[in-house]
Amino acid sequence: MSEPLLEASGLCLAYGRTTVVHDVDLTLREGDTLGVVGESGSGKSTLARALLGLLPAAGGTVWFRGSSLAGLSRAERRIYRSTVQPVFQDGVETLDPRMTVAASVAEGMRGSRRARAARVRELLADVGLDPRTLPGIEGRRPHELSGGQRQRVGIARALAVEPRLLVLDEPTSALDVTVQARILELLERLRHEHGLAMLLITHDLAVVDRLCAESMVMQAGRVVERGPTRELLTRPAHPYTERLRAAVPQLGGPQLPAART
Ligand SMILES: Nc1ncnc2c1ncn2[C@@H]1O[C@H](COP(=O)(O)OP(=O)(O)OP(=O)(O)O)[C@@H](O)[C@H]1O
Ligand SMILES: [Mg+2]
Repeated sequence: MSEPLLEASGLCLAYGRTTVVHDVDLTLREGDTLGVVGESGSGKSTLARALLGLLPAAGGTVWFRGSSLAGLSRAERRIYRSTVQPVFQDGVETLDPRMTVAASVAEGMRGSRRARAARVRELLADVGLDPRTLPGIEGRRPHELSGGQRQRVGIARALAVEPRLLVLDEPTSALDVTVQARILELLERLRHEHGLAMLLITHDLAVVDRLCAESMVMQAGRVVERGPTRELLTRPAHPYTERLRAAVPQLGGPQLPAART
């Protein structure tokens, strides 16, 4: 097996004196897809922040390629920052409202101006915003884009530094159903073509079912169940997972009128 990209062992996270995440262990290797599900307030985003280096551990350790995150040298930290990239809800958190699409995507890139501009066009095409079919897209600012387009720009920006792992926090929940489906298709394709590992946070079990081989379920800051996503969904062992599952129509919950797609 390959060396883990990112690991957490006994990870505890706190805001001030309140510990909100307790004793989490996880391992992400090249190409792994791990779903994190759980109700609002269960600690999913807090965990993501710690894995992204935005929140220090109150206990336990986050490891990047075998080194403690807290002890990385500046050079190692730079590598970590480009290897592990965030994708947040709908691009609003990630994109600077004053920056054009091209500037946002190019921000972390190196190389000549011309090479960067070419790479921006390539990345935009890769996320379904081909400037040849969307003339002028590179010059627009976030408020001149739809929610789905903003999320695509956020993903292009993450890809620009050639990450190996994306930490996605509710990447589709601000989008309407049809746009969600297309963003999920995009993520699936990127995972496939770039061999990207993903840690994907969502409250939507259908999303992890589609994208994540393994999943873990959080409740009140603890991991209460984990395993292959399919097994969790078909044979939940924990009553809380069963309750989550029962809330999703496709997975045995109440049938709702078919969504228009
Ligand atoms: N900046 C903060 N300061 C203090 N407490 C916080 C902060 N952010 C989150 N919390 C608390 O930490 C706990 C976990 O919050 P977190 O945002 O990680 O939950 P979540 O699982 O991502 O929820 P959601 O599904 O609603 O996004 C909650 O009790 C929340 O109120
Ligand atoms: Mg959250």
